[in-house]
Amino acid sequence: MQKGPSSLSMGSPWKPFLLLSIISGLSDFARAVASRPMSYAAVLRLKADGASSVLSSRSRPRQHYSSGLETTEWPAFSSQPLSALRLISSQEDHRSEESEEFGPVFIQEPDDAIFPLNSTEKKVMLQCEARSNPPPVYRWLINGTEVDIEADYRYSLIDGSLIITNVSEVTDHGTYQCRAANSVGVILSREALLQFAYLGAFSGKSRGGVSVREGQGVVLMCIPPPHSPEIIYSWVFNEFPSFVAEDSRRFISQDTGNLYISKVQPSDVGSYICLVKNTVTNARVLSPPTPLTLKTDGVMGEYEPKIEVHFPTSVLAAKGVTVRLECFALGK
Ligand SMILES: *[C@@H]1O[C@H](CO)[C@@H](O)[C@H](O)[C@H]1NC(C)=O
Ligand SMILES: *[C@@H]1O[C@H](CO)[C@@H](O)[C@H](O)[C@H]1NC(C)=O
Ligand SMILES: *[C@@H]1O[C@H](CO)[C@@H](O)[C@H](O)[C@H]1NC(C)=O
Repeated sequence: MQKGPSSLSMGSPWKPFLLLSIISGLSDFARAVASRPMSYAAVLRLKADGASSVLSSRSRPRQHYSSGLETTEWPAFSSQPLSALRLISSQEDHRSEESEEFGPVFIQEPDDAIFPLNSTEKKVMLQCEARSNPPPVYRWLINGTEVDIEADYRYSLIDGSLIITNVSEVTDHGTYQCRAANSVGVILSREALLQFAYLGAFSGKSRGGVSVREGQGVVLMCIPPPHSPEIIYSWVFNEFPSFVAEDSRRFISQDTGNLYISKVQPSDVGSYICLVKNTVTNARVLSPPTPLTLKTDGVMGEYEPKIEVHFPTSVLAAKGVTVRLECFALGK
């Protein structure tokens, strides 16, 4: 049995024993939304949309002011024509100018954003808009600390929205909050996470081959390049676009990217390339190939099962998110 730098052959013949994936709940996107603490304005939006969880930036509250108290009434359907809403909105604006003073209420709060690092325009906008009388003054907080927008030429405000030019991961990755204030009161928006998406290249170093006996188990390591956020792993067999199909004998870990083949057959002989795909930018990169060959000195006998892919002893998950627990055992 030989060991290559990027691969490890199993010391015994294994056969899959258990493959278990528990999937429940929603997508990663929903997880991001669900795990965010919800502010007052966000709750109002969800109510307005009823069954739909899509936050529409077009729908706007109609506000009525009486004896200093404000109530917010939402259009029954967010699909109402925009022009009709604008009309209502401008009438309201006119009326509110004459009405009493009131503290700020968010119309738009910043959303989580993922910025592709290699995009040509290095500019990002985090939206924020509030209504109040007198009109609100906006400030922004990054990681809880107020930023001096005047002091850094990269920052500018368009109404309440923050524009950052020449944006970079080193200086701008963090949690953003918008603050709107007037003489009546101050409100602080929900937290919006600004992240950066990238996918580096694999090390170009050629990978050693792996040689196993027929019936033996083998692990081919992916060793992914630097990336953000998550990546999806797959393996190309011999030539693109022929992919390794997962079955009871073959397993691709979405934690490490490693490919597990139990009980190697003559048909498994060939060249294996790990393909990784960034879930945000869809950029893909390929690893150098790892050749798999069969030894000719015999076939492995029977062997007891051994769990090769474990899941952690504890997994922290928010309610409603997707949890995937990986388990794969080899044996013959
Ligand atoms: C970013 O890089 C990926 C490959 O890494 C490429 O597919 C994509 O087109 C690039 N985008 C831009 C805007 O350069
Ligand atoms: C943009 O930022 C980088 C560092 O993140 C800096 O080296 C470069 O000079 C900046 N460009 C401009 C036009 O300010
Ligand atoms: C904000 O906090 C995160 C996590 O601690 C850190 O990685 C990031 O650099 C901080 N961002 C800024 C702009 O200070």
